[in-house]
Amino acid sequence: MKTKSERHTPAGGRDAGVQKLALIGAGKLGEGLLSSLLASQLVPADHVVATVAHQPRADHLAQKYGIEAGTNNQRAVAGADLVLICLKPQQVKGFLHEVKKQLRHDALLISAAASVTTSLIEKELGGPARVVRAMPNTPSLIRQGMTAIARGQHATDADVALSELLFSSMGRTVVADEKHMDAITGLSASGPAYVYMIIESLAEGGVKMGLPRELSTLLSAQTLLGASALVLETGEHPAKLKDVVTTPAGCTIDGLLELEEGGLRVTLIKAVVRAAERARQLVQDQNSH
Ligand SMILES: NC(=O)c1ccc[n+]([C@@H]2O[C@H](COP(=O)([O-])OP(=O)(O)OC[C@H]3O[C@@H](n4cnc5c(N)ncnc54)[C@H](OP(=O)(O)O)[C@@H]3O)[C@@H](O)[C@H]2O)c1
Repeated sequence: MKTKSERHTPAGGRDAGVQKLALIGAGKLGEGLLSSLLASQLVPADHVVATVAHQPRADHLAQKYGIEAGTNNQRAVAGADLVLICLKPQQVKGFLHEVKKQLRHDALLISAAASVTTSLIEKELGGPARVVRAMPNTPSLIRQGMTAIARGQHATDADVALSELLFSSMGRTVVADEKHMDAITGLSASGPAYVYMIIESLAEGGVKMGLPRELSTLLSAQTLLGASALVLETGEHPAKLKDVVTTPAGCTIDGLLELEEGGLRVTLIKAVVRAAERARQLVQDQNSH
């Protein structure tokens, strides 16, 4: 597997150099990843074997993407140099147990299962398994995602680089220490849900003031998108960008006053803290079962 830097194909596409990718659990996330990897030419379709629980879903994926797809995990991982686990968290242990014998000892395992630690996977497999943990979020499905990547104790720099390359087909990536994964889960993985609530609430404000709902939702969502892009593109502190909008004795300061009185900041801070604490609890549950 060529990992350090991608190889350029004659067609100008990028090939991550994966010989056989076993994509285990091609559901919402798995299919999103599959379609991004194929569209960005990081992995050719004839190098992919995907698995799901139900044969009709496998047939659908095989037909749609021109890949091999089935329900047999042992067959899928046999000979694979890269195994991408997109199963529900509670299914990961059973899967590892099922394929332990077929797994190449030098295979790289990348798991996107929430609350499943690299150490749990390493422990299940025994030996110096190369494991990387990834935590994407739902906007990854339209390639606007945020994926945090953490390395297991035997993963190499090249493994981390390959993981970043693969997930960059779905948006931004960042490499983080695994001890921060619970906080990341509470912020960027759960975050889209908080943002939808904010979009919906701003839109309700517009509706209250007489705007048609569709227009109100468009104004609200594009405002969040544009404001976020400004933070990312300028690198400015959000408070400074807020001050630019806030004319003395203008309208915005009145709106901000309401937000302060309603405790928006503290509520959002607490939301992240609570979700991160729950993520930590789920990790403990996974480890104790
Ligand atoms: N969705 C996201 O954006 C997102 C973001 C961050 C993390 N994650 C993590 O990604 C994982 C998957 O989430 P999801 O939303 O994609 O769930 P999902 O849509 O339910 O996908 C799970 C897939 O696993 C398949 N499956 C079930 N048992 C299997 C088995 N024994 N062997 C092989 N495949 C099996 C299912 O097959 P059938 O389709 O045939 O039932 C389904 O396609 C979770 O651990 C979640 O925490 C997801």
